[in-house]
Amino acid sequence: MDLETAIRTRRTHKAFDAEPIDHATLLELFELARWAPNHHLTNPWRFRVLGPKTRAFLAGEAELDLRGSASKLQRAPTLIVASAKLDGDASEQRDDLLAAAIAAYIVLVGAHARGLAGYWRTVPLLDKPSVRAGLGVAADEQPIGLLHLGRPVQDQRVPARAAVAEIASFLD
Ligand SMILES: Cc1cc2nc3c(=O)[nH]c(=O)nc-3n(C[C@H](O)[C@H](O)[C@H](O)COP(=O)(O)O)c2cc1C
Repeated sequence: MDLETAIRTRRTHKAFDAEPIDHATLLELFELARWAPNHHLTNPWRFRVLGPKTRAFLAGEAELDLRGSASKLQRAPTLIVASAKLDGDASEQRDDLLAAAIAAYIVLVGAHARGLAGYWRTVPLLDKPSVRAGLGVAADEQPIGLLHLGRPVQDQRVPARAAVAEIASFLD
């Protein structure tokens, strides 16, 4: 799949078959993510693939918490906590957060290019101290989302995008 096709046709998928993404493919995706631009060359992106024990831990925390949505955790065969290591000054932290977001996107678009599918989910629960501790998230690390990955089981509608004229301008 060429780059533009991958970018245009990647969709948010929330339903997958039961087969987890294999280790080698995940390593390929993380290897690709490392090529995100990174102003301070700090490699701020971190990815944690949740194994059975960690999934059970997170599901337990989700059940205890109103923000949890434990059932959503069951829907993906592979779950990845994406986070950013933010140990510079305020300006570096901003750049590193953005760089980590680009890296997370690369995981999603790289998965799509391989016939897989994914979903970036905002999970406030990841900020809870007990959850951070259980996942081994360092004090200077900011979780940015939970990436759901798997094999797609249905087509997704294509959400409309604003026209180019609405989002871009050419200044004198
Ligand atoms: C930073 C970020 C956070 C997101 N969080 C959620 C979320 O919590 N729940 C959700 O349903 N979708 C979430 N999404 C996915 C968007 O809803 C989705 O990208 C959007 O609807 C456009 O659809 P598309 O990805 O198929 O183009 C998130 C996307 C991004 C980039």
